Amino acid sequence: MSAKVVVVGQGYVGLPLALAAAEAGYQVVGIDTDLDRVSSLAAGRSPIGDISDSYLAAQSLFYRVSSDFGDAAGADVVILCLPTPLDASRNPDHSLLLAGAKAVSSKLAAGALVINESTVSPGFTRDVLGPIFAGHDLAYSPERIDPANKNWNVKNTPKLVSGLSDSARSRAVDFYSKFVSAVSTYSSVEVVETAKLLENSFRLVNISFINEIAEFCDKMKIDVREVIAAASTKPYGFMPFFPSAGVGGHCIPVDPHYLVAKAREIGASTRFIDLANQVNLERPSYFVGKAAGILGTLSGKKIVVIGVAYKPDVADVRETPAEALISLLRSAGADVVWHDHVVGQWKGEASAALGAGYDLAVLVNPHSETDLDALGSVPVIDTRGGL
Ligand SMILES: NC(=O)c1ccc[n+]([C@@H]2O[C@H](COP(=O)([O-])OP(=O)(O)OC[C@H]3O[C@@H](n4cnc5c(N)ncnc54)[C@H](O)[C@@H]3O)[C@@H](O)[C@H]2O)c1
Repeated sequence: MSAKVVVVGQGYVGLPLALAAAEAGYQVVGIDTDLDRVSSLAAGRSPIGDISDSYLAAQSLFYRVSSDFGDAAGADVVILCLPTPLDASRNPDHSLLLAGAKAVSSKLAAGALVINESTVSPGFTRDVLGPIFAGHDLAYSPERIDPANKNWNVKNTPKLVSGLSDSARSRAVDFYSKFVSAVSTYSSVEVVETAKLLENSFRLVNISFINEIAEFCDKMKIDVREVIAAASTKPYGFMPFFPSAGVGGHCIPVDPHYLVAKAREIGASTRFIDLANQVNLERPSYFVGKAAGILGTLSGKKIVVIGVAYKPDVADVRETPAEALISLLRSAGADVVWHDHVVGQWKGEASAALGAGYDLAVLVNPHSETDLDALGSVPVIDTRGGL
């Protein structure tokens, strides 16, 4: 197989995809504007927990990394895996995606297959990327990667595909079918764009719902985890979600805003998402109230927040609820440190040692290897539920 594949953005989504394509025999160039990331990858060091250095090395025959968009020349397939965050007003920020799209489009010969994997508002692929990639086949296929998930990865998670033309759709199916076990197609890119946002909005709404139920159970002095376990014995019509200090990461707290923005534009309502966002953002202050209930005053109290990554066993702190929790505890006068041996350094601070000298510990996302026994008899608030 000699097709040249260019993956723009070598982050949590783009790097595993690029390496899976290389493993399938495509000639892959990963392009990224972060020079530290590019030199680390070029030196054989993976910046992502799910990708080992040995797996990276094993693909070196068919994979190389570059910071030069000139390396996209002659590409048969281009995949956009660029960040789509929120701006300061929590509205969609497509600027990084647009910058990467424009940079690569100027290097392509007519007729390339371009696939966007970045999360976008419905209509964006057709209305905004369409004109940029005029003269090419343009497809959309959202990424569903779940970092640190040992069972589901880029190769066995079913892929949704649609295109602006039949040719774009069928070329995209051919491309993915070489290394993804299940690829399904849909009638329009808008269907697939909306499906991606439905998946993540579904999680946001249900996690916020269980967080509200957790507060109810707390007041009832019953264990919400036991309640969830009991409800989960129902063989149909129930799916468990688990309490937390709030949703974090690049997807669940962010992507629903891409649906909300489109809904505002077309005059549709998003009341469930709006309420879920509100419940989610209020979660850290709920635990500050609980801390004050245990300690009386928070002023001068030594509190350790444990697990500041947005989920266990990853180093990713994007949108972590630990940030608001720490800041609110500090505003209340507490002397707060955090412990997270996977994150290590964050916001100019280093992970503090665990020990028995704290007045309170708040568990946000402890990792599998976090040594909670080191806390001894320190009182603990577990934001994940339980008494
Ligand atoms: N992380 C996830 O778990 C996940 C899951 C599903 C979907 N997504 C979606 O995938 C997309 C990418 O997310 P991610 O988590 O991989 O982001 P990321 O931040 O990990 O990676 C993006 C990479 O793009 C690079 N970049 C930024 N601007 C660039 C430019 N103009 N040209 C080239 N490179 C550029 C960055 O340096 C970075 O390495 C987003 O739309 C996200 O919503 C992410």
